[in-house]
Amino acid sequence: MTVALVTGASSGIGRELLDRFAADRMDLIITARDETALKTAADDLTAKYGIAVTVIPADLARPGEAHRLFAEVEKRGIAVEYLVNNAGFGNYGALHEADARKMDDMVQVNVASLVTLTRLFLPGMVARKSGRILQVASVAAFQPGPLMAVYYATKAFVLSFSEAVAEELTGTGVTMTCLCPGPVHTQFAARSNFNHSRVFQSHAAQASDVADYGYRAFMRGEILAVHGFNNRLLVLAGRFIPRRLIVKMVRWMQEKRD
Ligand SMILES: NC(=O)c1ccc[n+]([C@@H]2O[C@H](COP(=O)([O-])OP(=O)(O)OC[C@H]3O[C@@H](n4cnc5c(N)ncnc54)[C@H](OP(=O)(O)O)[C@@H]3O)[C@@H](O)[C@H]2O)c1
Repeated sequence: MTVALVTGASSGIGRELLDRFAADRMDLIITARDETALKTAADDLTAKYGIAVTVIPADLARPGEAHRLFAEVEKRGIAVEYLVNNAGFGNYGALHEADARKMDDMVQVNVASLVTLTRLFLPGMVARKSGRILQVASVAAFQPGPLMAVYYATKAFVLSFSEAVAEELTGTGVTMTCLCPGPVHTQFAARSNFNHSRVFQSHAAQASDVADYGYRAFMRGEILAVHGFNNRLLVLAGRFIPRRLIVKMVRWMQEKRD
């Protein structure tokens, strides 16, 4: 049985993705901090699809936690065929007013733990000549984001990292897909103090649609998957607009509506 490990599985896009894997009869390892939500998801998925779900709670903001998660999987003797690095969060506001520890945690979850899990699970996949990794970035990856500077920069890292490693993996039988959603209705906006901004009020997608799209791109082994026609248009337009102007436009979009 193929096994998929999904981080950030307790809510939002990650929770939606679980159903896509389960419907294709894959066993799952699911992780996040909220153990109750993970256990509820595991029970629901097992009852609905008859698959095995292993719950391993982990706080990926803690340095060393990604190594512990990998060791827990190894200890159980499970070979992970598919890895989804989906856990992540943002924070709205100017950097000089932001909680410094929250910025540390964001870099740890969105960047450092993602790199560690990718690094640790890749060798097994390459040795087996088969495997897939889905990195959840964002359309935020394509330009700087005033008022969410750290978040945008973490997603730019994920995009750059994913495209580079995807190229390294050519011919190995392993693929890496970078999913870039625009705004999505999940807990993300509320957790990032971001749901009153123009970005969210104008065009947020449903998490189920993003999961459907991302899962299909992942199974096809596409390197880059930007969700939604408008988002693809924005990414394309960004190549032709002076960067200084883009930064000003993004700031306007990020600002809260009166
Ligand atoms: N929603 C959007 O507008 C949007 C747009 C583009 C990209 N994204 C990206 O999509 C991904 C999923 O976000 P979402 O929109 O589905 O938001 P969400 O509903 O808030 O889900 C975020 C997930 O990440 C987990 N997570 C957060 N901090 C963690 C930590 N310290 N350790 C372990 N897990 C942690 C959460 O679980 P626990 O709280 O249980 O730990 C939760 O399962 C993120 O990478 C986000 O940046 C979202």
